[in-house]
Amino acid sequence: MSEIYTVPSRVTAGSPNAITDLDAYREHWAKAQRDPDGFWLRETRSRIAWRTPPTQGLEGNYHDIAEGPIRWYADGTLNVTESCLDRHLSDRGDKVAILWEGDEPSDIQRITYRELHAKVCQASNALKAMGVGRGDRVIIYMGMVPEAAVAMLACARIGAIHSVVFGGFSAEAVRDRCIDCDAKAIITQDEGLRGSKTIPLKATVDAALESGGPVKQVLVFKRTGGEVGWTEGRDHWWHEVVDSASTSCEAEILGAEDPLFILYTSGSTGKPKGVVHTCGGYITYTSYTHETVFDLREDDVYACVADVGWITGHSYIVYGPLANGATTLMFESIPTYPDAGRYWDMVARHKINIFYTAPTAIRALAAQGDDHVKKHDRSSLRVLGTVGEPINPAAWEWYYNVVGEGECNIVDTWWQTETGGIAITPIAPATPTAPGSATLPMPGIMPQLMTPEGRVIIGPGEGLLCLAHPWPGQARTVWGDHPRFVKTYFEHFPGLYFTGDGCKRDELGYHWITGRVDDVINVSGHRMGTAEFESVLVSQGAVAEAGVVGFPHPIKGQGVYAYIVLEPGQTWSDDVVAALNQACREQIGAHAKVDLYQHVPGLPKTRSGKVMRRILRKVAEGEPEALGDVSTLADPSVVEAIIAGAKSV
Ligand code: WT7
Repeated sequence: MSEIYTVPSRVTAGSPNAITDLDAYREHWAKAQRDPDGFWLRETRSRIAWRTPPTQGLEGNYHDIAEGPIRWYADGTLNVTESCLDRHLSDRGDKVAILWEGDEPSDIQRITYRELHAKVCQASNALKAMGVGRGDRVIIYMGMVPEAAVAMLACARIGAIHSVVFGGFSAEAVRDRCIDCDAKAIITQDEGLRGSKTIPLKATVDAALESGGPVKQVLVFKRTGGEVGWTEGRDHWWHEVVDSASTSCEAEILGAEDPLFILYTSGSTGKPKGVVHTCGGYITYTSYTHETVFDLREDDVYACVADVGWITGHSYIVYGPLANGATTLMFESIPTYPDAGRYWDMVARHKINIFYTAPTAIRALAAQGDDHVKKHDRSSLRVLGTVGEPINPAAWEWYYNVVGEGECNIVDTWWQTETGGIAITPIAPATPTAPGSATLPMPGIMPQLMTPEGRVIIGPGEGLLCLAHPWPGQARTVWGDHPRFVKTYFEHFPGLYFTGDGCKRDELGYHWITGRVDDVINVSGHRMGTAEFESVLVSQGAVAEAGVVGFPHPIKGQGVYAYIVLEPGQTWSDDVVAALNQACREQIGAHAKVDLYQHVPGLPKTRSGKVMRRILRKVAEGEPEALGDVSTLADPSVVEAIIAGAKSV
């Protein structure tokens, strides 16, 4: 049994709706289990500004999901921006909604709820004037500027469906997403700025649109003033069309189950899927979890340093915090600019109370030593969050003892793009923590561990993590491909949502996520499909076959390990490696980097020709002695060569 940390006194519950201790948590959880509809109807009515409040909870179930998506609150109508903006104007109009810190620490904006409301209305009107309307898809390809949040909310306000694409993705990735969702417009900026380096966002959009496609309009926010190409008629400057637009715009009233956004995410096979989240359930769940998990208080300064290109940014920088009337930080830069103390310098300057980041950043900063932390005052901190990958106990302890000085609780929040919001986590004022454990399910979340053969594991044990009952925040479908949604998540275990993660449960009922059990790898919290890498690598002429797996990486969590079989007559060289790296950068994005290449004579295959990925994984993990049963191997000499030439960082 690992050490349990009781809740430090600084964290004692403070918000009016707080779950104050473990007993109260158990009561909430039991209530949600006994009567999910009653629980979630109460939550939504008390926290969301509905135009027509819903009278129905859940419709549909996992057994019948092939017939159509589940629905929550289906007879309700709303526009989520009224919950995020309009209803705060009376009592929080002058409260800071977005506290923005740019690449340079001195570059700060404080945007009040009243100002944000006006900006969103202006952008809404500009989009409408560009011919964007209800149900249209809009790609947002921006850095971490307030205008990215404004763009998301403006789409939501007019009923357009946004799809934010992380600014690191390549032109090809942008183009694929535009085509997949048939996007009418793109919102971008001239250049991004991170750690004093510029990122050519507009140029990438231009390249993405070179070959035609559905996009007819491009809205460009000027961030750096760098030189950009311009297509008359298609491109519009933000400062020309948004800043001059009217600051009032009636919100389009939508059904609870109308899509709010699409977010592309990688899976085990094929191209990234467009995960669809809908209005009513998503805003309810993100509002509920954001307030409950972090014990949000009215005067808190809340900082999640993720990027809006990922689900964490959607749920816990933009929608959840704004629905709760919080002051939410948007951070444009990187944790090591100008030095490794940047986060803690921000904590001191803005008196941040809640700080939410990823294990990869914690490990990278811990490696830089404690001085960068200690020289900044962190006494405002109360809750420290982590998300994106399993956190190793050493990094947890550093976060707890050095950053939090033992005074803050750590919430290790497990969730996924598909869950919409936090699903398994400590509740800051209530849950004693254990380093490396995501602990207990949120009310409304019913984890079930399964054996690969489909038997339920009761009590302590290790298995495949499934969730047994729908909750309002979960993804409804894959854009344009409901059968793929059903196949990916609901076919392994009929009647259950399969997460793709492995998980241990201990005697306390605490959950310990062990990582993905499918062919998804998690590099620095960025989710990538091994199949995506393989398809890029084999598209290079010199490559006959490629097998890509993850391996444990001291900073990134997982690294990317590529086994390459060359075509006959080709020779392995630095030039080949450079070409492969360039192909990954161009076809996926700058964040898609192979850490280790191994040139191999062949991939280990069964006699029926199936690649034995388990062998590739074990060798990459540095455990060739644990290969298990290799009796079905077609050619054992291939494995010997693989083991002999194994690489490591
Ligand atoms: C995958 C989902 C959730 C927002 C960011 C990632 C892993 C996420 C944890 C955690 C262990 C975690 C899982 C999950 N993961 N949080 N606290 N402990 N693993 O969203 O890109 O959809 O990735 O990230 O493997 O399945 P995502």
